[in-house]
Amino acid sequence: MKRIGILTSGGDCQGLNAAMRGVSKALYESIDQIEVIGFLDGYKGLIEGQSRKMSPADFSGILTVGGTILGTSRQPFKSMKQPADPDDPDGPTRLDAMVKNVDRQKLDALVILGGNGTHKTAHALSKAGVPVVTLPKTIDNDLWGTEVTFGFHSAVDIATNVIDSIHTTATSHGRVFVVELMGHSAGWLTLYAGVAGGADIILLPELPFDIKAVSEAIRRRNEQNKRFSIIAVAEGAVTTDMARLSKKDLARYRSTCPHPSIAYELAAALGQKAGQEVRVTIPGHYQRGGQPSPYDRILATRFGTAAADLIRQGRFGVMVGMQSDHVVPVPLADVAGKLKLVPPESPVIASARSLGTSFGMPE
Ligand code: F6P
Repeated sequence: MKRIGILTSGGDCQGLNAAMRGVSKALYESIDQIEVIGFLDGYKGLIEGQSRKMSPADFSGILTVGGTILGTSRQPFKSMKQPADPDDPDGPTRLDAMVKNVDRQKLDALVILGGNGTHKTAHALSKAGVPVVTLPKTIDNDLWGTEVTFGFHSAVDIATNVIDSIHTTATSHGRVFVVELMGHSAGWLTLYAGVAGGADIILLPELPFDIKAVSEAIRRRNEQNKRFSIIAVAEGAVTTDMARLSKKDLARYRSTCPHPSIAYELAAALGQKAGQEVRVTIPGHYQRGGQPSPYDRILATRFGTAAADLIRQGRFGVMVGMQSDHVVPVPLADVAGKLKLVPPESPVIASARSLGTSFGMPE
């Protein structure tokens, strides 16, 4: 009898259920005696021993369903050194508690679906001897070692739809719209949705922007008799002035800034200069909700079945990643703690620039 643990950790995204279905169905199909144990709410369930025995039926009918049937939560990597029981400060750490629960459950493998923070903890578990295989999920597409993560393209579809819809109302009123999309450190989602939706100005965390250059881009459009302008801005985008601040000073600046987010700050700064009404739209968690796109269903299925293959081979300490359209095992040591950011020389940026799209930098 093989016993496989599975959990989803960190912010959810589309395709988590499709991926778990991929892993489990492939295992049930290929191993006669198998039990899958689902841990509830991510690492929290593994720390606290909250789990349930899954049945094949649990993984049926979930290919198209968003969210995660196991629940998820954010458990920061830093907290893993803290005592599992706050009333017992000298007792086992949260990491120790997880290793103990893996032993107690006699798991032959632990499958972890998660993003950046999740991978740091997965690596620590692997170093502590847990047979770990991970799958890369996040709408941010910022995991090192894979060209694409599941959730990303579903979120791009939603964010593109938002920009498409904003076009009609922006045209009617002749307004400037600032559409703020998710992504604190990485601008993949804003770049792809911005280009797919034909945003006129795209502002990414990787390319600090200059407000004067943004208003200059709007002025140029007005000169060409364009009635409206659409700005796609990532929630983590910064001005060139902000980019000069240390992390601590930037956090202090943000906590005292009267505007709730960069979109509002930009709208306020442009309001005086644009000579046009400026409006803000923030789809927020809507970008992470609902059904996975067909692309993500296929990607999650490929990743899931590849993870099942690795378990059968007894190959652990790896994430399944996409490289040149091949699903390959990537050592967790190469993934943990690294971010895949949009490179300034991205061909998608170059292509958008040649259409006249502004990235908020002086021309
Ligand atoms: O990591 C995915 C993500 O959706 C980011 O794009 C976003 O900044 C963050 O999660 C939001 O986190 P939470 O769901 O905890 O508010």
